[in-house]
Amino acid sequence: MLRYWTAGESHGKTLLAMVDGFPAGLTLETDSIDNELARRQGGYGRGGRQRIETDKVEILTGVWKNTTLGSPITLQVVNRDYKLERLGDLERPRPGHGDLTGAVKFLGPIRAILERASARETAVRVAAGALSKQLLGAFGIQVIGFVRELGGIVVDGEEGDLEQQKQLRDQSIVYTLDPTRDDEIKELIDKTGKSGDTLGGVVEVRVEGLPFGLGTHAQWDRKLDGRIAQAVMAVQAIKGVEIGMGFEAARRPGSQVHDAIVYDESQQDGPNLGYTRPTNNAGGLEAGMTNGQPLIVRAAKKPISTLRKGLDSVNLNTKQPEAAEYERSDVCAVSAASVIVENVVAFEVAGALVEKFGNDSMDELQARWDLFHDMAKRR
Ligand SMILES: Cc1cc2nc3c(=O)[nH]c(=O)nc-3n(C[C@H](O)[C@H](O)[C@H](O)COP(=O)(O)O)c2cc1C
Repeated sequence: MLRYWTAGESHGKTLLAMVDGFPAGLTLETDSIDNELARRQGGYGRGGRQRIETDKVEILTGVWKNTTLGSPITLQVVNRDYKLERLGDLERPRPGHGDLTGAVKFLGPIRAILERASARETAVRVAAGALSKQLLGAFGIQVIGFVRELGGIVVDGEEGDLEQQKQLRDQSIVYTLDPTRDDEIKELIDKTGKSGDTLGGVVEVRVEGLPFGLGTHAQWDRKLDGRIAQAVMAVQAIKGVEIGMGFEAARRPGSQVHDAIVYDESQQDGPNLGYTRPTNNAGGLEAGMTNGQPLIVRAAKKPISTLRKGLDSVNLNTKQPEAAEYERSDVCAVSAASVIVENVVAFEVAGALVEKFGNDSMDELQARWDLFHDMAKRR
């Protein structure tokens, strides 16, 4: 089983992720992890914190001569903005945060809640996901995350293969697949920021090169769609998850939803073993298992909860109505959310991969991958 936990506060000394169950024998490079950390900090609309932090990963355990040992891997991202000991508490809880509920539940300060609830913690979730992408990459499995919608502006752009899509995304200041729409989106973010308000959006993740049969139909908590939904919903500010056609499928008759099955011998050596689908409305998952088609996941991110203009709240000490506290904040973090969702999805897929093919060593994984593909072709 591949799993991880994180530790660390937003303004504490450091953030840690401990990844357990990662196979031995994979040669790692940290640049691609740092690249994902930098992307998480970017995207037009972020606040001052991102100018203070330049996140870099340090691998503290589980690696020898750049190669994984099969023991737990500890990833560290140090907080340059460490100041927790100097920070005071808040009196006026911010709506849309855990401030009020956490202070009541734990009978303590709001600071104790917000420091851990903050999305700063996703830096190490991204690091763990980026690590798992190296494992996926060894089997030709590629992942992309991008912004599909921001503040109500929908951006299509499906041109080209995944590499070409990545190039387009990396040209866009907000990580959409159509950089020609950037000006329009930037204008909206600027206008919204000036008025003291915030924006949300929809992000999409695609995973290509997946084999048949990751996840299982046999038990609810091992269905891959369920696991992905939990990982994505657990990202701060995500309020909805769709797989494939998602909610739209509920509005259409079955004939316009389900993907026909076609056999094309010329593709039998590819991940789909020759079973192609003219459409991919299922988003690559049927009965909780990958079906040889690209995985498509979308997530809805609500607008940032901390508004400069201050939402209505109550002073916890006086119980009098007052505007909510303002902690330094972003206007829009949808681009960053696309990086986080991409990486948490990658981690779940990597977990399902090692569950099917083993997590002791890369050599065994490869041998079992090859054996399965030989056997499945004969099915
Ligand atoms: C990348 C990212 C950055 C965020 N930045 C902020 C921020 O600057 N200010 C803020 O109030 N909320 C921010 N949030 C959202 C809060 O962390 C989140 O809404 C809050 O912890 C409550 O959790 P919930 O929305 O999941 O219920 C951010 C979320 C993400 C994913």
